[in-house]
Amino acid sequence: MNLISLEKEVIQLCEEVGSFIKSENQNFDRSKIEQKGSFSNLVSYVDKEAENRLVKKLEELLPGAGFIGEEGTEVMGTNEYKWIIDPLDGTTNFLHGLPLFAISIGLTRNDKTVLGIVHEVMHQECFHAIEGGKAYCNEKVISISPIQHLNESLLATGFPYYHTEKKENYLEIIKTFLEQTHGIRRLGSAAIDLAYVACGRMEGFFEYNLKPWDVAGGTFILQQAGGKVTDFSGGDNYIFGGELCAAGHVHAEMLKVIKAKW
Ligand code: IPD
Ligand code: CA
Ligand code: CA
Repeated sequence: MNLISLEKEVIQLCEEVGSFIKSENQNFDRSKIEQKGSFSNLVSYVDKEAENRLVKKLEELLPGAGFIGEEGTEVMGTNEYKWIIDPLDGTTNFLHGLPLFAISIGLTRNDKTVLGIVHEVMHQECFHAIEGGKAYCNEKVISISPIQHLNESLLATGFPYYHTEKKENYLEIIKTFLEQTHGIRRLGSAAIDLAYVACGRMEGFFEYNLKPWDVAGGTFILQQAGGKVTDFSGGDNYIFGGELCAAGHVHAEMLKVIKAKW
């Protein structure tokens, strides 16, 4: 299986599904918002239809691959490949008309990521990488920021919607970073946070309670761009483990703060 041609096909697919998401966003009727379990966990027919379109085409592109999709697609698969997809990362932004959301796709082979795509819909920036290659934003090679220390850094985070039993520890981490950096952003899409760290717009990103589909594509792109990704203990359980510290050169400084407070 040729990863280069597969990547091209998946990028084109993201452009097509991205156009659908964008056109729905322009006339979105807020009465179509649905809740998934809690009042703050939102979804709409756009997320579901985008996932259907992605899965249908990806099945054709790589027959037998498994799937983990946020909107319910779960397929074991009959070979070593698995797609991990979030059809719309930044759903709350989308539903409120805030133009920052993305399609996030990771492909694993024997549980190791080999392809990542984060397609930011409204500005049409497609971040992508494959195993053994560089990371790109559209056609341009990207890499992490040259900044070496927290005191010159801009970080990103997210505020978990649920399971907030670690809330106090998390707030302590945020407080420390607020004192030690140029600031913290909350963009509302973990996939975009990771892509922006990969291209050097921000130096680091941390969050907990994330799901595999939020991070599978973006963490791989960041690594191919020269970044480092771990869980909060410094280990590599960051796709399924729900804890993510992802950064350029400031990773070690970030992890030190996180470990001390978590
Ligand atoms: C969410 C976004 C957000 C993060 C949440 C995720 P969704 O994904 O990535 O930045 O803070 O934890 O659930 O619901 O927009 O696909
Ligand atoms: Ca998501
Ligand atoms: Ca989503």
